[in-house]
Amino acid sequence: MRCAVIGGAGFIGSNLCRHLLALGHHVRVLDRAGAKPAVDGCDVAADDWVSGSFTSADDLARVMQGCEVVFHLASTSLPHTSNDDPLGDMESNIGGALRLMALARELGVRRVVFASSGGTVYGQPVAIPIHEGHPTEPMCAYGISKLAIEKYLALYQELHGLDYAVLRIANPYGPGQSPFSKQGAIAVFLHKALTGETIEVWGDGSVIRDYLHVSDVCAAFARAADHDGPHRVFNVGSGRGYSINEIIETIERVVGRRVAHRYLPGRRFDVPSNVLCIERARAELGWCPDIGLESGLRETVSWQSRFL
Ligand SMILES: NC(=O)c1ccc[n+]([C@@H]2O[C@H](COP(=O)([O-])OP(=O)(O)OC[C@H]3O[C@@H](n4cnc5c(N)ncnc54)[C@H](O)[C@@H]3O)[C@@H](O)[C@H]2O)c1
Repeated sequence: MRCAVIGGAGFIGSNLCRHLLALGHHVRVLDRAGAKPAVDGCDVAADDWVSGSFTSADDLARVMQGCEVVFHLASTSLPHTSNDDPLGDMESNIGGALRLMALARELGVRRVVFASSGGTVYGQPVAIPIHEGHPTEPMCAYGISKLAIEKYLALYQELHGLDYAVLRIANPYGPGQSPFSKQGAIAVFLHKALTGETIEVWGDGSVIRDYLHVSDVCAAFARAADHDGPHRVFNVGSGRGYSINEIIETIERVVGRRVAHRYLPGRRFDVPSNVLCIERARAELGWCPDIGLESGLRETVSWQSRFL
């Protein structure tokens, strides 16, 4: 399979490139960060790296030409900061995705696989675990853009026959995730545990999230590239929730010592629980998460330790 990974230098994108190359696929990358993948082993040929932006039709065309499948994993915003500039979020993310869809149609791309967000498209859950038919009431501009892109993909399929799949990803962690980003509690907590800093917890630590290892996310992307079934939107999570306090306890077991932490006032936008139902992905993609939290944390510790 000849494929393009938009955002292929990032945390999930570089792991996905490695995964696709290991499966024997040909991989091209568009990323504004250039050929600087977040993980080792992302051996995309130098000629297949395109440095540029997915908001530019020319840059997109350079990478998508001749590709059967396009994985769209670039985003210009993060959930917690997107409400500061909803217009910029909309123009770059929705505008860029629409340009990508138009080109995919023009260039004869077989399928677009889009990285959506299981943590933001649903908003305040009315039932846990959250299945794909749950109401969608995003509480941030990032989630609204993700949902709008999902809807445009469905529209493009209806109008123009462009095939697609959407993965609503829970909370990925693992090698390649920067501990200095504003996203990814596990990466931040592990870094603080390893450097002896105090972990700061928003609220009392009871907030529950669905964490899954990035290689499980990559396996779901690969399956979504050519699955055949009635659905196009899939939750991708671990199938179970962990509280922040449980995460800290597991980190303590992994590093073999107590880890200093303190509790701060809770944040308004943190819903108490978000755990995704993954039965649809199990049944239709034939996918299920493989890596348990403790072994996933051990691997992430060994990756982070190389940079200390
Ligand atoms: N990490 C998470 O917790 C999480 C959860 C759910 C969904 N997602 C989604 O998965 C995707 C990948 O997330 P990630 O954690 O790997 O993010 P990341 O920030 O590590 O990677 C994104 C990559 O996109 C690139 N990029 C950003 N704007 C670009 C632009 N205009 N043109 C070209 N490249 C651009 C960045 O340089 C980066 O390499 C994103 O769409 C994100 O919204 C992430």
